[in-house]
Amino acid sequence: MVVAAQIKQAAELLAQGKLVAFPTETVYGLGADASSSEALAELYRVKGRPVSHPVIVHLADFSQVAEWAASVPESARLLAEKFWPGPMTLILPRAAHVLDQVTGGQNSVGLRIPGHALALELLLAFGGGVAAPSANRFGRLSPTTASAVHESLGADVSMILDGGPCQVGIESTIISLLDEREPAILRPGMISQQEVEAVIGPLKKSANIASAAFASTNREQREEPRVPGALASHYAPVTALVVLSAEQILQGDFGASAIIAFPQTCAALPHQESSVVVAAPLEPDAYARMLYEELRRLDGLKLACIVVEAVPAEDRWRGVHDRLTRASAR
Ligand code: TXA
Ligand code: MG
Repeated sequence: MVVAAQIKQAAELLAQGKLVAFPTETVYGLGADASSSEALAELYRVKGRPVSHPVIVHLADFSQVAEWAASVPESARLLAEKFWPGPMTLILPRAAHVLDQVTGGQNSVGLRIPGHALALELLLAFGGGVAAPSANRFGRLSPTTASAVHESLGADVSMILDGGPCQVGIESTIISLLDEREPAILRPGMISQQEVEAVIGPLKKSANIASAAFASTNREQREEPRVPGALASHYAPVTALVVLSAEQILQGDFGASAIIAFPQTCAALPHQESSVVVAAPLEPDAYARMLYEELRRLDGLKLACIVVEAVPAEDRWRGVHDRLTRASAR
């Protein structure tokens, strides 16, 4: 249980330029004062991330958006009303004071109001914007429990707030509103394209190209080079991971491996002493919630590979599909 005294202490540490890991509904974040150049330098050092990559600024309240963005388009208001606090990040034109360390030197800033009580309490107590990438080393799986943060960053953070397992489980949907007439999804998440379009109308073509790539098995790197989450190999376990169809899984012999497959496939699998079989949830929400924690656990077994059954090519599965594709890229 996190108590008020811990929130207060965490906010004080942030104000002193220290790093505090905290839970959000998506994944745990590694927080730093987004207005402090020194705190951001420490954040990049610990994260092991190239300085040219931007970080998301976390806020407690919509009224703060205008402090970080040069302008707040109507579409941002509509999306905020519908999805914040929640698993959505908006890319907006940056306000003049926003540090290059936050924006990666770009003219934009990523903003998010997380849907987690503890995160909101911390943000309220701190008062300012908190820059927070996922609390993992660059390129690895995002942590969805406090103990996963501890394992990966341990001594390098001043404090880890424990809010239990994250309820969403994969990172936020990132929507660029830089060009108001052409909003685009830069990173799919559990808020789907259809849900976004229901609020602000059709998204930019490139987002639809991404969906064409989603429908096919195209694993080419996306066009947005400044979104590290869009690098082909990202969010990856150490163990090799392959995504295969149910048919391929049933025909294959994978030796000492882990197999994550839907229940029907699991039931049809011949028994293999050497493999660990995990029945995957049939709903995308439940699937996303377990994904990183399960991959982390399987990674720890040091098997030859992790075989994952392909998920349905449907809009609501896109976030999960995206993370599996990245985890399988080498
Ligand atoms: O759910 C989440 O978004 C989590 C939690 C902690 O909030 N955070 C997260 O942060 O996933 P990170 O740094 O691991 O990934 C954020 C992504 C990166 O791919 C980054 O490049 C992109 O957001 N991003 C941030 N600011 C941006 C900007 N101004 N323009 C384009 N992409 C931006
Ligand atoms: Mg990350």
